[in-house]
Amino acid sequence: MNFLKSALVIGGVGLLGATGVIYFGVVHPGADEPHSAAVYRLIETARERAIAVRADDVVVPALGDAEQIRRGAGNYASMCVACHLAPGAAGTELSQGLYPAPPNLSTQAIRSPEHAFWVIKHGIKASGMPAWGKSMDDPYIWDMVAFLQAMPTMDAASYRELVASSDGHSHGGGESMPHPNGSAGGGDHHGAVAEGSSAAAHDHGSHDHGAHDHGDAAAATEAAPADHHDDPNAPPHAH
Ligand code: HEC
Repeated sequence: MNFLKSALVIGGVGLLGATGVIYFGVVHPGADEPHSAAVYRLIETARERAIAVRADDVVVPALGDAEQIRRGAGNYASMCVACHLAPGAAGTELSQGLYPAPPNLSTQAIRSPEHAFWVIKHGIKASGMPAWGKSMDDPYIWDMVAFLQAMPTMDAASYRELVASSDGHSHGGGESMPHPNGSAGGGDHHGAVAEGSSAAAHDHGSHDHGAHDHGDAAAATEAAPADHHDDPNAPPHAH
């Protein structure tokens, strides 16, 4: 009986504490305010354990075929590079602004093929990592995993070559911005903006970013869209 009473009291106090934490807004929601090291560790451990439990059932096919890697490269350059970067590429607005930060997969090896497959397919809640399985079937995801295994051994030039030789953004349907020829930096839509336009038509042109180098939207009407649009290794815009 005494035990039951103490359990109830402890439970009640815990509930009150949790309500207080929420009511007083104790947990900072901003992505520019890191968790304490201990809280981060706790969340990371819980996340990794939850992924490991589920990735355990994933059956890994043969990986490492050159064709797989080539196909994976085009999709990576279209869908992932802004967050996870590429050999020789500097950080982007997304990679630097997200919290938790996306790992730089051009230098950091994936934990395991099954872990990477699970994360790419299902995404990670409350982080920037989307669930790509909603638009990509499993074989395309495995191409991506094969590519991720190979990328840390590539330099900027071999990465660029591989992306150029790939089929671009192509995974059999569901692509939101098809780039059939591998112009993965997003040349198409930038070109469309430049075509009939003054800088004001460009989102970034309508407000002042100081040192922000979006002048090319205005300049691009005469010259071909700036070089970096043709460079699959470059972030979509440079500043
Ligand atoms: C909008 C940003 C964003 C995009 C786009 C994105 N990711 Fe992620 N990704 C993240 C973030 C953030 C994490 C880390 C989440 C965390 O730490 O909880 C992550 C984690 C991962 C991981 C796990 C890494 C590890 O070792 O724990 C893999 C693998 C991965 N992403 C692959 C991809 C692939 C492949 C694509 C493209 C199909 C992609 N991501 C697109 C943001 C992104």
